[in-house]
Amino acid sequence: MASFRFALVVAVYLLCSSHAAEGLGANWGTRASHPLPGRTVVQLLKDNGFDKVKLFEPDDDALRSLGNSGIQVMVGVPNELLAPLATNVQFAINWVMQNVSTYISKYGVDIRYVAVGNEPFLKTYQQTYQSTTFPALKNVQAALIKAGLGRQVKATVPLNADVYQSSDNNLPSTGDFRPDIHALMLSIIKFLSDNDAPLTINIYPYLSLYADPNFPIDFAFFSGSGQPLVDGPIAYTNVFDANFDTLVSALEKNGFPSIPVIVGEVGWPTDGERNANSNYARRFNQGLIDRIIRGQGTPKRSTLPDIYIFGLIDEDVKSVAPGNFERHWGVFKYDGTVKYPLNVGNGRSLVPAKGVRYLSKQWCVMSPEASPQDPNFAAEISKACTYADCTSLGAGSSCGNLDVKGNASYAFNSFFQMQNQMREACQFSGLSMITTTDPSQDSCRFEIMIDLGKHEKASSRSPPTSSSSPSSGGGRGGNRVMRIIAVLAMCLMWINYNCGCYYLIFI
Ligand SMILES: *[C@@H]1O[C@H](CO)[C@@H](O)[C@H](O)[C@H]1NC(C)=O
Ligand SMILES: *[C@@H]1O[C@H](CO)[C@@H](O)[C@H](O)[C@H]1NC(C)=O
Repeated sequence: MASFRFALVVAVYLLCSSHAAEGLGANWGTRASHPLPGRTVVQLLKDNGFDKVKLFEPDDDALRSLGNSGIQVMVGVPNELLAPLATNVQFAINWVMQNVSTYISKYGVDIRYVAVGNEPFLKTYQQTYQSTTFPALKNVQAALIKAGLGRQVKATVPLNADVYQSSDNNLPSTGDFRPDIHALMLSIIKFLSDNDAPLTINIYPYLSLYADPNFPIDFAFFSGSGQPLVDGPIAYTNVFDANFDTLVSALEKNGFPSIPVIVGEVGWPTDGERNANSNYARRFNQGLIDRIIRGQGTPKRSTLPDIYIFGLIDEDVKSVAPGNFERHWGVFKYDGTVKYPLNVGNGRSLVPAKGVRYLSKQWCVMSPEASPQDPNFAAEISKACTYADCTSLGAGSSCGNLDVKGNASYAFNSFFQMQNQMREACQFSGLSMITTTDPSQDSCRFEIMIDLGKHEKASSRSPPTSSSSPSSGGGRGGNRVMRIIAVLAMCLMWINYNCGCYYLIFI
């Protein structure tokens, strides 16, 4: 044991390359019935070169796990809080204290932005958040300044790209803000600009395609090879550039040519509708990531904006109001496995989450004796799908080709897994049974849920090995600490110069 006192081995690996996929950001949504533990997700982010993450709310597990991770964080305020934040300065002060300051000072979370609301001016919200968003933004920014975080943390508002539009034939140069919120947008942008804060916009080429069956499909992707959209001297080959430059035109037209813009969400779903599939998602996201790696901006703005891909992981209890695809935006499946290969720079491919624990290899399916003519059949399926996720069943989805019995099995299994494989969750009026034979067919996967209980036990059972020598201090502790600090400082200098930097310290 004494040898530990003298053996001080600090091994540092600096893997730096200007070609690493630096600047990759992701939205980490947490509307999952069985969310992966925060630490697993943070490791997943690091393993895949994500250095920025956006949260929709100050999720405690997520934030704590992000502490001292080197990952920058944008933390969101849910729309429901816009009204109290707008009308009550003290509410904003308390919100910032509990949900921002504490995580920075106590847990070492690198919070850079507070996202005040989420797409509050979306047309479908009508005017619900129209009067509260700007006052809430002002109160949050004031609270950040009061908390001494004014320089470090900026308040912004993620807005849907429907806050601007082109007035003529989709030409980006004719872009301007939506008439009904024109003055409001200018007030918000002036405020952001005065506070050195960025404007945040969510851009969804997939939704353009979803909304318009005649949308030229090649134009949705970065490899767009079809007919370009010619706008004066510029020929646009993809809708992302055209959309972003519509915003740039709107900003120029209204006197804010150089305000920084963040793309808060952009991505492509893989299931729930015919254009939501892995091929298209791969094509779109690979094109996007390639541009991030190249640092390529748009024709009108050559500097690449910060981009947060939507999303990191599928969310099986998200509202399906926008469509069944809404639960399938993840680059990773619900369990952190890879849906499709992506090159994230330097020939590196996506790697899955590590150490995920699953429930037993068993499924709940329709029993062979049961009949679809059973009077309870429809009601039982409907019950299962009310509580569990059946969004892969519709036409054009991954399980859209199942027959009627397959449909029932899928629904029953989804419910059973959601209920952590409790025996009572596979009853369905005698129509179902438990099987250990995987009923998956081709693209249609009958999933097994994550084991939350076991996972918690596992994590408390396995403390990190380095903590097994708590008495290691002694007279040499100071010296060791100094050396570690020196190494970390070197490392931070490297990070500063946009390198991917990985360090391991063994003591
Ligand atoms: C922290 O944020 C959560 C989620 O937005 C909210 O419910 C809670 O009230 C906030 N804390 C304070 C003190 O405002
Ligand atoms: C399977 O379920 C989906 C979704 O409920 C439905 O649209 C489809 O028609 C069903 N297929 C059959 C063969 O029953």
